Amino acid sequence: MTILSDISADWWKSAVIYQVYPRSFYDANNDGIGDLKGISSKLDYLNDGKGNGLGVDAIWLSPFYKSPMKDFGYDVSDYLDVDPIFGTLDDFEELVAQAHSRDLKILVDLVLNHSSDIHPWFQESRSSRDNPKADWYLWVEKPEHGALPNNWLSVFGGPAWEYCEERGQYYYHSFLKEQPDFNWYNPEVRAAMEEIITFWCRKGVDGFRLDTANFYAHDQQLRDNPKYPASHKALEERDGVEYDSFNSCYSKDRPENFDCLKMIRRTIETCSPHITTIGEIGGIQDLDDLLKLASSYVHGSEHLHMAYTFSLLGSRINSMDIAVVLGKTEKEIGDGWPCWSFGNHDCVRVRTRAENSMGMVDFYQNLMLLLLCFRGTPIIYYGDELGMEEYRINKEELQDPFGIAYWPDYPGRDGCRTPFPWDLHRANQGFNSGQKSWLPATSSVALMKNGIIDNPMHELTREMINVRRSQPALQTGDYNQIAANPSVFAFQRTLDNERLFIACNFSDSEQELFVGDDWQENPLKHFTRNGELDGLLLNLPPYGFSILVAKQLL
Ligand code: GLC
Ligand code: CA
Repeated sequence: MTILSDISADWWKSAVIYQVYPRSFYDANNDGIGDLKGISSKLDYLNDGKGNGLGVDAIWLSPFYKSPMKDFGYDVSDYLDVDPIFGTLDDFEELVAQAHSRDLKILVDLVLNHSSDIHPWFQESRSSRDNPKADWYLWVEKPEHGALPNNWLSVFGGPAWEYCEERGQYYYHSFLKEQPDFNWYNPEVRAAMEEIITFWCRKGVDGFRLDTANFYAHDQQLRDNPKYPASHKALEERDGVEYDSFNSCYSKDRPENFDCLKMIRRTIETCSPHITTIGEIGGIQDLDDLLKLASSYVHGSEHLHMAYTFSLLGSRINSMDIAVVLGKTEKEIGDGWPCWSFGNHDCVRVRTRAENSMGMVDFYQNLMLLLLCFRGTPIIYYGDELGMEEYRINKEELQDPFGIAYWPDYPGRDGCRTPFPWDLHRANQGFNSGQKSWLPATSSVALMKNGIIDNPMHELTREMINVRRSQPALQTGDYNQIAANPSVFAFQRTLDNERLFIACNFSDSEQELFVGDDWQENPLKHFTRNGELDGLLLNLPPYGFSILVAKQLL
């Protein structure tokens, strides 16, 4: 195991995280699927430790554990080993060593709410009502008259209950029936989770992304989830997905979930004070409830370090909605630390959402700049730094079980998981040396000319990461909203005597913003479409973006 020297306990507050979806990053052995050796070979692109590369500080790896891949690795059949598709444990150790030698940190994804149904624990559990693991998953008696135990639904479609002949009982699955939920109320299960966490801590990881961190506990009385009124506007707009019409307050988001998080945090801290956690808080359809819950998960020092929600991952990305999400979070988060992303492996590519929403690619570039100016740790999804677009999947190409279940109303998540386009002029866009890739390697990257290096979006992201690094106020300064209307979003970031003013024009017309005479243009960088100071006003061109610095120290 490799330990980084000189790390501050809260390195993660000033870090920029990059999410890698291992199946799609780089396929070193040319079998059509990305792998760990592939990631190791491309680290210099992310950060070579000498000031070159994109300049990110940490990588979050989506799951690479042994898995039958029903949900592409989010169905784990051995938590302590690497799936042969991705490589070996040695490859993982090499990746950690290579990353650490470049000062890059590694976060791994822990899927602790459910396992694969072929995990030996579930195989044993399902075999009888009295085996040693009989109570490791959530088993419920078959109600009379053929009814289901309650109205809980699977996120991926249909009831969350699957009948098992061997036991004559139902088991619960929040996601696929091949992903049975653990019974976290069983102390043996919690001890098994501790072992998994400790194993990866000892491998030298610097953090964990916790999959579905609000799903571990469920209502012990199995009460029905209430339905939202028909007028309710869902946060995640997925056509036809029945799950979204329920408030799943009994199947997840339970108060006891805090105990699960405490146990996870204690285990991690026993290994190292430097290891961080990011929880995924998913599936809540009411913005206020979602931000309240996510904030409460990061209060104090016993729960998570960070949590991300889907509040910026849906279709509503405009000045007002972003301002509301940031404002409400600031109000709720107290001593907790925010964490932001505009893209991940579960949602439509932000480039495509941005264009659908505002019709301009310039607006997309501004989202990346904004993300790197927010208070809170930013996560960049692989390819977003190139402007990768959502791939429009055809029925015959579908891989994602979520898409297969709801096609064509909701096409699933394949469109944001396509191979990384390393070189548009090579076979499979340089993802491998020619073997057909698991999803089409035909990204349309309109912003890319000859390769990643000439890509203006990449250049902008790299420069903005540098600006963030050079400005402590951007990393850990306070946040104060100044303006939020449909055209302009502006805020200040302040740390000690450093003050920055960030303004973004969301419209296709010039905008004038009163800023007073405190400010001068940022000497560090003139972004494309930079605004101009004119007396007390800042003139922002269409889709303009400016960072101003205070003339005088506070
Ligand atoms: C999380 C993951 C998603 C996965 C699901 C079930 O939401 O991000 O990809 O399908 O959990 O594990
Ligand atoms: Ca491979």
